Amino acid sequence: MAKFLLCVLVFALCFVSTQSRPIFIDSRKVYNVVDYGAVGDGLVDDTKVRLMDFAVFAYEVYDMVNYVVLPFMDAWKATCKSSMSSPTMHVPQGMTFLLQPLTFNGNCKSNNITVQIDGTIIAPSDPSAWKCPDDKCDIWIEFHDFKGLLIRGSGTINGQGTKWWGLKCKQNKRVCGRKPTGFVIGGSNNVHIDGLTFEDSPKMHIAFERSEWVNATSLTIQAPKHSPNTDGIHIQHSKNIIIYNTSIGTGDDCISIGDGSSHINISNIDCGPGHGISIGSLGKDGKHETVEFVHVKDVSFTGTTNGARIKTWQGGKGHARNITFEHITSIDSARPIIIDQYYCDHKVHKHCGNETSAVRVSNIVYDQIYGTSDKEIAVEFSCSKSVPCYNIVMRNISLHSTEDGTQTSSICQNVRGLRNGDIIPDVPCLNEAENLPIVN
Ligand SMILES: *[C@@H]1O[C@H](CO)[C@@H](O)[C@H](O)[C@H]1NC(C)=O
Ligand SMILES: *[C@@H]1O[C@H](CO)[C@@H](O)[C@H](O)[C@H]1NC(C)=O
Ligand SMILES: *[C@@H]1O[C@H](CO)[C@@H](O)[C@H](O)[C@H]1NC(C)=O
Ligand SMILES: *[C@@H]1O[C@H](CO)[C@@H](O)[C@H](O)[C@H]1NC(C)=O
Ligand SMILES: *[C@@H]1O[C@H](CO)[C@@H](O)[C@H](O)[C@H]1NC(C)=O
Ligand SMILES: *[C@@H]1O[C@H](CO)[C@@H](O)[C@H](O)[C@H]1NC(C)=O
Ligand SMILES: *[C@@H]1O[C@H](CO)[C@@H](O)[C@H](O)[C@H]1NC(C)=O
Repeated sequence: MAKFLLCVLVFALCFVSTQSRPIFIDSRKVYNVVDYGAVGDGLVDDTKVRLMDFAVFAYEVYDMVNYVVLPFMDAWKATCKSSMSSPTMHVPQGMTFLLQPLTFNGNCKSNNITVQIDGTIIAPSDPSAWKCPDDKCDIWIEFHDFKGLLIRGSGTINGQGTKWWGLKCKQNKRVCGRKPTGFVIGGSNNVHIDGLTFEDSPKMHIAFERSEWVNATSLTIQAPKHSPNTDGIHIQHSKNIIIYNTSIGTGDDCISIGDGSSHINISNIDCGPGHGISIGSLGKDGKHETVEFVHVKDVSFTGTTNGARIKTWQGGKGHARNITFEHITSIDSARPIIIDQYYCDHKVHKHCGNETSAVRVSNIVYDQIYGTSDKEIAVEFSCSKSVPCYNIVMRNISLHSTEDGTQTSSICQNVRGLRNGDIIPDVPCLNEAENLPIVN
């Protein structure tokens, strides 16, 4: 009854309360979050809007105070239920939407849904202001169980992570342990993310988990150099992934490829600042983990702390194999090429001993890697004694020192492989005669 009355009074409310009044563009339906009550002033929580925030207050209808709408969820439900073949949910430009953690479930009518984000989406800036379901804050925005999803636009997704980064974990174990990843695609197929900018996530910016056929194109991902664990894109238990034409500068790996990942093509990437493009870390706590068929090409590393990197823990099992890094430029990066089978996060693990098992690293190609290294050691192969790296191939490598007059050098431990073309610095351990298959 109250709702009906309001409806008569304020036309805009009829829109909300009757729910589906999409605007038609072409033959598709476009569901604009603003039509579902989103305020977009960067202050009101747009996941849950009280009508008092939304309606024209002049009507003095105080019993509206407790009436709430869920603009993003309501717009999403309408998009998801749409019987059109390609419905779109729209987040318009020129507005800033403050969002609490949100999950978009993809069991929709259409297999070709578009989420068009042209506005700015921000997270609460204070960790204590986050409203996390069941106190679980590990993800901010999640899309899961999709079969056909395009997320695109000129918009920005900003996790406002500054206060999370500053938390001292010793004093704030509970809050600290649940630092959210910004944007997650989980359990999905045929997903394309295009054009968006991601900024200042509390933890990783984007993660692809248990997904296949995911394309990420023309993205910009940025966070300060000293923001902890803010990987650009993390891939886990996923295959057939393309990352193309993307610029990433954060405080951790530009791209990290974790367990269960294969058939990953990464190209035309600007990386820096950051820790490079990393396979791993794999094999922590004795786990059996695998990554294979990864192709990284046309990448520039600028001022990164590692470049083309493979890192595994002592005591692990599994493999990292058939991985190619080619056409790579390094500008003043430290260790542009590194395989580290003694990886250990010394901040968390006090004692990292040497063990008899290790994640096997084999069939790795480095081809045409040029530029400068700001550490004397430009190439490091620290492979395990018990499970040496095998079939490591280098072709046409030229990494000079950032400092004039300084020679670069390499570390070579327990590596077998081949080299051809000019290799600077020299990597003498790669020697065809010794690249015999490993039997064990
Ligand atoms: C899917 O949706 C996009 C965007 O609306 C459209 O450009 C494309 O043609 C659609 N694809 C199919 C197969 O319908
Ligand atoms: C991803 O990109 C590949 C290569 O450009 C293309 O063939 C494929 O259709 C794209 N997939 C999606 C889901 O956009
Ligand atoms: C690459 O991405 C930028 C945005 O970061 C875009 O302006 C440009 O058109 C993209 N180029 C290609 C070839 O996709
Ligand atoms: C990755 O690139 C290789 C070689 O160009 C190609 O055969 C493969 O299909 C690509 N994978 C994906 C997922 O696009
Ligand atoms: C993996 O790499 C090795 C060495 O380069 C090559 O001989 C082999 O064919 C590759 N495997 C596949 C399935 O591509
Ligand atoms: C483990 O082995 C590496 C390489 O041989 C060596 O540099 C390192 O000191 C060893 N660490 C321990 C804890 O024994
Ligand atoms: C790689 O090195 C070989 C041998 O020095 C040379 O013939 C070839 O032209 C080089 N390739 C490129 C792309 O520089």
